[in-house]
Amino acid sequence: MAKQARGKQAKRPYRIAVIGGDGTGPEVVREGLKVLAAAARACGFRYETADFDFSGARYLARGGDPAKPTLPVITDEEIAALRTHDVIYLGAVGDPNVAPGILEKGLLLHLRFSLDQYINLRPVNLYPGVPCPLAGKKPEDIQFDIVRENTEGLYGGMGGFQYQGTPHEVATQIMCNTRHGVERCLRYAFEHCRRRADRKRLTLVHKTNVLTYCGDLWHRAFLEIGEEYPDVAKDYNHVDACCMWMVKNPEYYDTIVTSNMFGDIITDLGAMIQGGMGIAAGGNINPAGLSMFEPIGGSAPKYTGLNKINPLAAIGALAMLLRQLGESDAADRVEAAIAFVTGRKLKGMAAGQMGYTTTEVGDLVAEAVEKDTRE
Ligand code: IPM
Ligand code: MN
Repeated sequence: MAKQARGKQAKRPYRIAVIGGDGTGPEVVREGLKVLAAAARACGFRYETADFDFSGARYLARGGDPAKPTLPVITDEEIAALRTHDVIYLGAVGDPNVAPGILEKGLLLHLRFSLDQYINLRPVNLYPGVPCPLAGKKPEDIQFDIVRENTEGLYGGMGGFQYQGTPHEVATQIMCNTRHGVERCLRYAFEHCRRRADRKRLTLVHKTNVLTYCGDLWHRAFLEIGEEYPDVAKDYNHVDACCMWMVKNPEYYDTIVTSNMFGDIITDLGAMIQGGMGIAAGGNINPAGLSMFEPIGGSAPKYTGLNKINPLAAIGALAMLLRQLGESDAADRVEAAIAFVTGRKLKGMAAGQMGYTTTEVGDLVAEAVEKDTRE
């Protein structure tokens, strides 16, 4: 449902679809929902949630083959049911008992593609008190957003085998971009960058020196569309150089826009420099449709059920979800509460190293939301 159609005066409650998913997903989402309840009380909005039990365990229970996709992980009817919601809150996807690719493609990528969530927005924010692996970097040095194209490129699934299993086997995997797909992503990134309070510099990240077709399309579209944004500084980095700068001088970046595969890779680097998967959140966004917010780390199977996993990434994803719904006051409160908890309470970010359990961290953030720890 379009964000524009909603807002504080809306009569009906927000409808939030919740997919706990695999491994520790349900545990971290539970803490996020605790924080959502606190935010709703504090800010006076109403919502209802509906649980969807999509997971590897369900796929196997229905008789799915663990080695190859023999059943849909989610059906078209289930996607239609999701569409009646304003937003989706997702825990994690990935089960060690199901071969890699089946759940990723059958659930996560299937939802991104069928709901046309063409933006993957991944903020890279070093919260106060969070241990950073880069020597000497402070929270003010690591504050940028990565806008990853989320429906095209190498993820489109084009390609195949010839002569499979022979010494002459040929495998192709095609990087396919469309002007439409690139342009809508760039426009989102320019708009997003323009809304940011600070430097307003948009860096296109690609590999135009080698990927002369897709890179050229991205670069040309970037310069053309960029003319409509004279207030945004235009900048270009090759992806390999970007990896260097993200480590050496992350303070350089404001907003990065990049293709699907490069975005996948550099956002994991981004997650590490902001303190790890325990704190990294992201949103799969369809600006005019149904968006889905998730912690970007995996399902962490070895921590399942131990009450040790860090729920802050899921709570950060909840803040993004609230912002998408137009509840920016609530989103600000949740972000401030996360900063309060990282800065004043937690000993570390890794599972089992926080000095608190998963549920206690959720309680701390929920309390901070009620108190309102904004400065
Ligand atoms: C991510 C993940 C997914 C991706 C996988 C699980 C398909 O790594 O969200 O970054 O590659 O996009
Ligand atoms: Mn990834």
